[in-house]
Amino acid sequence: MKPPIARPVLIIHGGAGGAFQDQRRLRRVRKTIRRILNLGYQKLSETNAVDAVTYVVRLLEDDPDFNAGTGSMLQEDGRARLSASVMDGSRMRFAAVINIEKIKNPVLVAQALLEEKSRVLAGNGAFRFAQKIGFKAQDTRTSRAIERWKKWKRGTRQGSDTVGACALDPFGHLAAATSSGGRGFEFPGRVSDSGMPIANFADDKCAISATGNGEEIIDEGLAVRIAQRLRDGLPIRKAFQRTFRELRVRKRSIGAIGLDRNGNVAQAKTTAILIHGWRKGKRRTIF
Ligand code: GLY
Repeated sequence: MKPPIARPVLIIHGGAGGAFQDQRRLRRVRKTIRRILNLGYQKLSETNAVDAVTYVVRLLEDDPDFNAGTGSMLQEDGRARLSASVMDGSRMRFAAVINIEKIKNPVLVAQALLEEKSRVLAGNGAFRFAQKIGFKAQDTRTSRAIERWKKWKRGTRQGSDTVGACALDPFGHLAAATSSGGRGFEFPGRVSDSGMPIANFADDKCAISATGNGEEIIDEGLAVRIAQRLRDGLPIRKAFQRTFRELRVRKRSIGAIGLDRNGNVAQAKTTAILIHGWRKGKRRTIF
């Protein structure tokens, strides 16, 4: 094994926007972010950026408080269709599952797809691949998700959220992972940005994970646009600031986290809240 060259850095998020109006839930979610940040950081110091971001997003998917994996929001027809992606910055290689059903951890399937020839699979194809590599079919719908869906049918609208993580590992490699149950109550088959590089991007300069209104993230080509600004020489914080200034003009509802190869972290939002936290050695901050 090559000797470590960088101090590992991990930044994670649990979503942005209107899903955190309940203050008790907000406190609980912040505690969870702190716990998962610490577990993820431990993992990052022992493995690599891809394994660490996948591990973090798996833990977030397993927590029914977040709109990813178990507890994801349902589409208009009452079915949960999940999307997740992983990008390995050192190989500039992206993989994703889109609208997969009955799989508890779509991010693990996306990670496995990184090594395949066909790296983005949707719907039944994604499910069949997951089964082929040993995943068991499982209902990801929780009673809370079903209750929210019933309320939506009665006319009560609620916000949704997405989860994600970006890491710089001890060998200087970057990676990003993002997972979502989608916008919630959308037309069946609607495709989430979380399974696309515009919401989940990593190369040798930066890693970025976005959350918020998927259609708007797609319109903005968000993560790729920020990454290009770094390639053009802008520091990561300025790249975030400039991009989000443009987003505000168009009244977008978006948040994003990122970090660069020197371990500088960045975040920005047009929403009131972006639940996130980062850790660099002993330094740690939760928002
Ligand atoms: N960003 C999650 C979604 O809109 O699908």
